[in-house]
Amino acid sequence: MRSLRPLRSLRSLRSSATSATPLTPASVLLAQRPACDPDSALALPGRQHDHGKERPQGAALFGFVGAAGAVALALLQPPVQCYFEENPDGSTDRIKRWATRSWAIPAGQAPRFHLKAVNPMLEKHLARWSKGMSPAEEGSALSVLVPLCGKTFDMPFLCENGYGVVGVEGVPRAIMEFRAEHRMRVKGFKSRDILSPGEKGSWEKGVSFGPSDQFAGSRFGQVFKKGEQGIGYYRDKPAVWSGKVNAGKKSLPLHVIEGDMFDVTPQMISAATFVKDGRFDLAFDRGSLVAIPPESREQYVSTLSQLIRPGGRILLVALDYDQEKVPYNSKRNAPPPFSVTGEHVRALFPAGAWSVEVLEDHVEDMSSQPAFKDVKVREVVYLIEKRGRGGSGGPTASSGQGGIPPCVLWLGGAVAVLGGAAAWIFAGSRQ
Ligand SMILES: C[S@@+](CC[C@H](N)C(=O)[O-])C[C@H]1O[C@@H](n2cnc3c(N)ncnc32)[C@H](O)[C@@H]1O
Repeated sequence: MRSLRPLRSLRSLRSSATSATPLTPASVLLAQRPACDPDSALALPGRQHDHGKERPQGAALFGFVGAAGAVALALLQPPVQCYFEENPDGSTDRIKRWATRSWAIPAGQAPRFHLKAVNPMLEKHLARWSKGMSPAEEGSALSVLVPLCGKTFDMPFLCENGYGVVGVEGVPRAIMEFRAEHRMRVKGFKSRDILSPGEKGSWEKGVSFGPSDQFAGSRFGQVFKKGEQGIGYYRDKPAVWSGKVNAGKKSLPLHVIEGDMFDVTPQMISAATFVKDGRFDLAFDRGSLVAIPPESREQYVSTLSQLIRPGGRILLVALDYDQEKVPYNSKRNAPPPFSVTGEHVRALFPAGAWSVEVLEDHVEDMSSQPAFKDVKVREVVYLIEKRGRGGSGGPTASSGQGGIPPCVLWLGGAVAVLGGAAAWIFAGSRQ
């Protein structure tokens, strides 16, 4: 299993390098190589020195020049991630850290982020959030997406207030505990349907099977076993749990997708849940964007954006503090939550595609958490609306975040510039 850490700035590397470890381009490069543990990464040059091997001067010069070139290349790369892990098949595991930390607690205990009541910001701003909105289908309820839902009380609360809800959660234990704790309110939430990919990005309920008489390495989302169809790889996730919650005379659907939020698509939602066109009227993001490492925020917002219909609204509860006071360190549990400032929110939800309004901004007392003991934290609630005509199933608003990824735009731009230059040179040579 390989894990990567963000590139650290030269200044921070300099300040942490010991006098016994002179800072050369090679040591900087070694310190920047993929490794989640800052201490071991910085120890690497020292370890090399311990071997006591003398190198010929020419080779040292060659190594120095090579390393300098590699450093230059490394600095041109975008920051790599440490927070997620790579699966043996090359896919990314974004769930393991949560399963092995926040949710790896004794039975009966709840993770620190879990509120044993409805979120007060949701209760307070519920009416404003959905004011004037009408559901896609007449007679149906407004649909709400709760990304990274954990086992939050907010989901049945929303159903009881007239909304249809779909949560997305990656850690099975969270869903098991949600099912047990809300069994009196959420009916029929008994078993899960596995979701299998079909053609052209489509999804369907049902287990897909690939025969294989021997184990050919672990595959993300699949288990190797002997089952009804023989021996081979059976799909195991994503999956959907489906229940209903009484709301006066009606009962409203509450579904939870068990899987990685980054893999969720409108097609998956459409195949698995009551939201037939796969796009939601509303999303409630509390403890979700702040749980995503900064390098992946754009990707998260892009995924979220695809799941919101034009005219749809996000109620975002973010935490804003000085990130330098709680720096990322793989050995500690915090962050998350990461700091998400107003600037971040406006960059992630640019004005051309979204309108952003601050509904509330107050100081949040997080001093009981050691990492935040002397840190001033503000909880800021945003109402974010996706521009574009309302109505489900319409074209997605032209969101820079939800549409073409920035790297593709850059690549396209570079190709266009090179193409233009080539045409200009060609035209010149023919004159
Ligand atoms: C900080 S908690 C917030 C939970 C919930 N929103 C609440 O207010 O209690 C984040 C939750 O998201 C889950 N999670 C983290 N990354 C995920 C991902 N990529 N896909 C699905 N779930 C994820 C974690 O297991 C955890 O339960």
